[in-house]
Amino acid sequence: MNLHTPTDRLRRPIRDLRISVTDRCNFRCTYCMPKEIFGDDFAFMSKNELLTFEEIERLTRLFASIGVKKIRLTGGEPLLRRGMPDLVSRILKVQGVEDVGLTTNGLLLGAHARPLHDAGLRRLNVSLDALDSELFGRLNGRGIDSAQILRQIEQAQQVGFDVKVNMVVQKDANDAEILPMAAYFKERGIALRFIEFMDVGNDNGWSFKRVVTKKEIFERLSAVHELEPVEPDYFGEVASRYRYAGTNAEVGFITSVSESFCSSCTRARLSSNGIFYTCLFASSGFDLRAPLRGGASDEELLEQIIGVWEDRADRYSDERTEQTAKNRKKINMSYIGG
Ligand code: GTP
Ligand code: 5AD
Ligand code: SF4
Ligand code: SF4
Repeated sequence: MNLHTPTDRLRRPIRDLRISVTDRCNFRCTYCMPKEIFGDDFAFMSKNELLTFEEIERLTRLFASIGVKKIRLTGGEPLLRRGMPDLVSRILKVQGVEDVGLTTNGLLLGAHARPLHDAGLRRLNVSLDALDSELFGRLNGRGIDSAQILRQIEQAQQVGFDVKVNMVVQKDANDAEILPMAAYFKERGIALRFIEFMDVGNDNGWSFKRVVTKKEIFERLSAVHELEPVEPDYFGEVASRYRYAGTNAEVGFITSVSESFCSSCTRARLSSNGIFYTCLFASSGFDLRAPLRGGASDEELLEQIIGVWEDRADRYSDERTEQTAKNRKKINMSYIGG
């Protein structure tokens, strides 16, 4: 089945699907799952609420038939879901899927890198917000040492993975780590992406004042390193990329706040319980699990998916203000998958 790619109301095609496989995480990052809210009594999803691998595979096939080419597996922490290599190999077999990546906090990579690579996965984005161990331990809410994550990154590279590192930068929290992080990963030829702190979810204490913009980060880096721009690899790439002059090492900036990239946003999201969202900052989504489990045919499911996409007009980051950040009800990042 290879159908015509739908475009939304702003004429954006659907090209990427970010699939969250669990809403659980072994970290409690202050900006994503603050401990005070995601405590011991927090009600995470039960197993039968989660889409099964068969269901995820079927939806991937349907999404791929209308133009999705890139799949990103996320969570929560995706490596907490058992059997991920099986899911990776199922997804890689879907006709039309050209690229699969996984975003992880890296803690469990040691045990999982080899089987994931054997299953065909090649790209990992690992989150790491500081090299300073005490600070990193506070930011991840679990006292995990940065050295542990650095070791796992090294192991994953040895297994053959192409690894990128994501650093969410927050003013007066970890911005002193910008230069040490840049130096560390430059030396190792690992691409580091600086992510502007975003107002995801409803309780992460966001305000414009706490954002360190690309411009500021760029200025700090340029004082020490010469950077040259790199052409985007494909239309709608999230990160704007630069190379350290005379090397192959890159840095990227994800500028949802200071230079929004909604006009080229081709990304759909699927939560672990099968809700289809058309924006990271959506207040609601479209339930695909009910029709899936209710016996809907491929044609019926496709009709619904296409209808939702064609009705899409989301451009939250273009419209963000201090007010929308406070007043709009948003889905938690750990649930929608970033
Ligand atoms: P690749 O470019 O394929 O390596 O992946 P990616 O950078 O799109 O994925 P990753 O999961 O590493 O996300 C990096 C950061 O970009 C996270 O903070 C995401 O929340 C953010 N991000 C990804 N897609 C979007 C988007 O559509 N809108 C916004 N506002 N942020 C996004
Ligand atoms: N702002 C920006 N990035 C965030 N992430 C999680 N929460 C936020 C936020 N509030 C990042 C994680 C991970 C990716 C999936 O999203 O650090 O790298
Ligand atoms: Fe977990 Fe990632 Fe959220 Fe941190 S940002 S709490 S590692 S899902
Ligand atoms: Fe896409 Fe929404 Fe992010 Fe804009 S804010 S880039 S529409 S996901």
